[in-house]
Amino acid sequence: MFSECLSDEAAGIIYGDVGTAVLNISVLSKLQKLEYVQIEHEEAGWVIGQVADIQRKTDLSLEKARMIGQRQEVDIHEKTTAKIEIIGYRDERGLLQTPRTPFRAGQYVYHAEDEIIKKSLGLREHTKTGAYIGLLYGHDIRVELDINSLVQKHVSILAKTGGGKSFLCGDLLEELIKHNVTVLVLDPHGEYGSMKEAGSVLETSRDFHVEPHGYADRIIEFATDPVSNPDALPLKFTLSNLEANDILSLTNIKNSKMHLSFLKKAIDALRNSKQDYSLKDVISVLEREDDMNNYALICELQYLDDAKIFAPSGTKISELVKKNMTTIVNLKGTPPELSELIVNRICTALFELRKVNAVPPMMLVVEEAHNFCPQQGTVASSKIFRTIAAEGRKFGLGLAIISQRAAKIDKNVLSQCNTQIILKVTNPNDLKAISGSVEGLTASMADEIQRLPIGVAMCVGGGIQMPLIVEVRPRESRHGGESVTVIPDECDY
Ligand SMILES: Nc1ncnc2c1ncn2[C@@H]1O[C@H](COP(=O)(O)OP(=O)(O)OP(=O)(O)O)[C@@H](O)[C@H]1O
Ligand SMILES: [Mg+2]
Repeated sequence: MFSECLSDEAAGIIYGDVGTAVLNISVLSKLQKLEYVQIEHEEAGWVIGQVADIQRKTDLSLEKARMIGQRQEVDIHEKTTAKIEIIGYRDERGLLQTPRTPFRAGQYVYHAEDEIIKKSLGLREHTKTGAYIGLLYGHDIRVELDINSLVQKHVSILAKTGGGKSFLCGDLLEELIKHNVTVLVLDPHGEYGSMKEAGSVLETSRDFHVEPHGYADRIIEFATDPVSNPDALPLKFTLSNLEANDILSLTNIKNSKMHLSFLKKAIDALRNSKQDYSLKDVISVLEREDDMNNYALICELQYLDDAKIFAPSGTKISELVKKNMTTIVNLKGTPPELSELIVNRICTALFELRKVNAVPPMMLVVEEAHNFCPQQGTVASSKIFRTIAAEGRKFGLGLAIISQRAAKIDKNVLSQCNTQIILKVTNPNDLKAISGSVEGLTASMADEIQRLPIGVAMCVGGGIQMPLIVEVRPRESRHGGESVTVIPDECDY
């Protein structure tokens, strides 16, 4: 851990050719890759740099290595050198600048002090609009993302499976709840309902100043399948409020004029005879027609009916979205095609209602976003996500997308996410997609993403101007996405 290093102990001495952006040092005391250092510049004062690479050069030849193998005594001479990338300093206007003249060879380089890091990186703690997500790696400095910027400019949380996305998203949700932000979470695996309960106290090597806390009083949970999710309110749609083309959009039959006209006719007939009607009623009317062309439509309606998402009185958006509350839409147990259709309907309604200020400014959080706005192919919700990503900012509808496959998310959506939180990623295509979309990502940082341990993230945006490595804070509430152990410690079967 960097904090073990003493700040008054020199980290190294500059040698060789010295540039304004990059320099090399001979290492004098313990130094680690990505650690911050400070160097005094004759005009700029203290300037912050970061260790991009570190190397131990030795004179141990192949010949001498073989001698060690033969148990012979061999003297090894070694020198440790580090490559430092200059980040810069804050000028009197508070802007990040880099010195215009190089440092001098022979100058001392020091382990950076917290105050200088905070000032140079522009990190502010305990701010009114800050979402506390963790501590700067190796330092007791809180990393806070600006909530206004998150909502206005969208967020992406990316990592391989098991990388800690949902855990960190829970941290972010806790912060949004504490700041009274209205939130709707699209939760395909039913992981977020557990946030109503307090988490257990975690033994951590650092003091994050986090206490267990449940948010039952601030969370409303709806589920499409209330049988498997008994703690949630049922999410229902009113059939009689839907026009034939709305119903058709909930099926896999797209752009079929013939089916649309059949459905319209059936609905008109029902509306003339009763106020409330069910999908079974619509199916009976179509069956009575005894037309072979109706068959595909009847099958689709049957499938919709089995999902039990229609009721005489459906869930109103005013019930779903409540000011200052977090709503979880639990889609667990709902088939993927139907989930896409439901997500499309909810997101379209939110966007339209936000435009006319009928719902409060809010954040829409989408887990497994690659399924709802994929890069390849089109699903029911593809279009609305592009629209929200491009225009949501204007109307106060923020988007947070979470995915294990950066390369599989619609680039039009991903590129609009100005705050990026990246945990461990190893897939080369995903790394390429991330490197291409993160501003200010140095080659050494990009390389580091593959090696990030669980619980460590790289963040940029949301008021943070350059990529930072963050030790993610523990959860206050219970995390619902725990990895399942296949062979338990105590096997009792
Ligand atoms: N910051 C952290 N501190 C402690 N444990 C963590 C942290 N982040 C993740 N974990 C643990 O790692 C496991 C996986 O985390 P999580 O469920 O967030 O992964 P994920 O990226 O959402 O995975 P998936 O893609 O499968 O949904 C969980 O058991 C969680 O408790
Ligand atoms: Mg997850």
